[in-house]
Amino acid sequence: MKKIIRVWDLPIRLFHWLLLIAIVLSFITVKIGGNAMELHGRVGYCVLTLIVFRICWGFVGSYHARFTNFMPSPTGLFGYLSGKTKAGLGHNPLGALSVLALLLSVGVQAVTGLFANDDIAFEGPFAKYVSNGVVGLMTSIHHANEWVLIALIALHLCAILYYQKFKSENLIKPMLLGDKEIDPSEEAKYLPADLGQASKDGGLQRGFALLLLSLIAVVLGYFITG
Ligand code: HEM
Ligand code: HEM
Repeated sequence: MKKIIRVWDLPIRLFHWLLLIAIVLSFITVKIGGNAMELHGRVGYCVLTLIVFRICWGFVGSYHARFTNFMPSPTGLFGYLSGKTKAGLGHNPLGALSVLALLLSVGVQAVTGLFANDDIAFEGPFAKYVSNGVVGLMTSIHHANEWVLIALIALHLCAILYYQKFKSENLIKPMLLGDKEIDPSEEAKYLPADLGQASKDGGLQRGFALLLLSLIAVVLGYFITG
């Protein structure tokens, strides 16, 4: 019988799919330009809220969401690449690197946006507090990082496709529904300790996540509108 293990709690899954929607919207609004730039900024604040939430959840969230449980060490990474170390149920060491790079790049994009200026009619809410030099620098980083972000997203999608096609591992279903289904024949692929590690995903955990997200949104909203 297959083992069914909750890997991605609801907060992580919602974080992921809302982040995807928000990033697509921020690219669409910037291409429309003009009045849509206001919306670009607002969507950007949502991205910032999501990223700050994800960082906090990486410390206080469920088992597989915690950075300490997937942060790769050089030995772990080389062991995984050479096939000597087994994978855990959450992000594997290589996937973890790409996840951390994605979080960093998205975070940089949202923060630099707060200080950016389009030289027409729209600027981030903090641009007025810093010198023109800083605004110019932040705007340049916002532009350059666009391509880093696009490259990381492309890599992310290629990796998921690779696992699907060449390793017969569907990573998308657990990110949608939360559970990994492990066939007894596949158990040897995973760390034995990890097979007993499910992520907590009950009402209390979800309520706590909602409270945390709301608190972050209120605090960021206070600074952004203040
Ligand atoms: C993660 C969220 C964000 C993404 C993915 C994003 C993406 C982009 C992209 C692709 C551009 C076009 C750059 C170009 O012309 O090549 C842009 C421009 C811009 N963004 Fe964002 N952005 C985000 C967040 C923000 C935020 C929070 C603000 C401010 C409230 C902001 C303010 C601006 C401004 C002012 C420009 C115009 C810069 C210019 O045309 O010189 N962005 N953004
Ligand atoms: C804007 C585009 C996207 C961004 C920025 C993005 C970002 C991320 C991030 C940050 C994670 C780590 C989740 C966490 O632990 O917090 C992740 C994981 C994941 N994403 Fe995305 N994602 C994007 C698009 C997609 C799309 C289109 C799909 C599927 C078709 C997808 C499927 C997945 C899957 C399956 C995982 C889990 C990978 C694993 O098992 O290690 N992502 N993504």
